[in-house]
Amino acid sequence: MSTTAFIAGGIAACGAVTVTHGFETVKIRLQLQGELQAKKDAPRLYRGVIHGMTVIVQNEGVRGLLRGLGCAYIYQMTLNGCRLGFYEPIRQSLTTTLFHDPKVQSLGVNIFSGATSGILGAAAGSPFFLVKTRLQSYSPFLPVGTQHHYRNALDGMKRIYNAEGVRGLYRGVGPAMVRTGFGSSVQLPTYFFAKRRLVRHLDMQEGPALHLLSSAASGVVVCCVMHPPDTVMNRMYNQTGNLYNGAFDCLFRTVRTEGVLAVYKGFFAHLARILPHTILTLSLAEQTNKWMRRVEDRLLSKPLKEKL
Ligand SMILES: *[C@@H]1O[C@H](CO)[C@@H](O)[C@H](O)[C@H]1NC(C)=O
Repeated sequence: MSTTAFIAGGIAACGAVTVTHGFETVKIRLQLQGELQAKKDAPRLYRGVIHGMTVIVQNEGVRGLLRGLGCAYIYQMTLNGCRLGFYEPIRQSLTTTLFHDPKVQSLGVNIFSGATSGILGAAAGSPFFLVKTRLQSYSPFLPVGTQHHYRNALDGMKRIYNAEGVRGLYRGVGPAMVRTGFGSSVQLPTYFFAKRRLVRHLDMQEGPALHLLSSAASGVVVCCVMHPPDTVMNRMYNQTGNLYNGAFDCLFRTVRTEGVLAVYKGFFAHLARILPHTILTLSLAEQTNKWMRRVEDRLLSKPLKEKL
């Protein structure tokens, strides 16, 4: 993928973030609700995606859904910046080592480089994700989780730094990296897999309908693998002090007290956020690739024809 495709991807991602941020807010509150409580004792303030959206808008207005949006942009730009900056160097050095030629395109190497640069981006952006999560779980009406009343992203970062130092800012960075690594390594392979199946079994042609269906399939799989580490991450982000000794401790205690399905709390809200996101970014990537090929064809063929 080229720089243009990455930048287009970044812009598409920010647009998608704006549209889907509300689902993320509901998701976080669903994931934190009933933490380490047996099912029958846990109060259910939010009863699912639709109910969650409705009560948040009723009590807090649309502003309630959009808490932490600024932070979400900064995170998205950090993530995409890292992808842009690290992808090519990683890809080139790997292909040079493996094939002794930096120009070889290998799907495996490309996916690995994409996942690695995503993981680096997640590590770099984790403090923003932390503050974003805390801003989104803050509610003066139906609070779940520790209520951190930060005025904005900068205020949040300053207060965390002053109280807990750099370690406090990087709380939960492990599951954050796992989460993004899972998502980035699964997205493209499942997309290409679904596309091949649809072409072979349903005889579909290259075009928007095929891109839409394949990216939707990819989005569902991405959500399934990403959601458990995402739940762990949000619970690590919520804690002040040390409720858990680490990500595995959090996972085991969650499953023991709330049951295995607890790691899938908020799944449908996550799906509502991931589906449009994946469809938009993947379809857009296909479009930009098509346009670029056309431009390249024109630029390359014209001078040739003139010479002939
Ligand atoms: C959030 O973290 C605090 C500790 O800081 C803990 O007491 C609480 O149970 C956690 N979860 C929720 C949903 O409040």
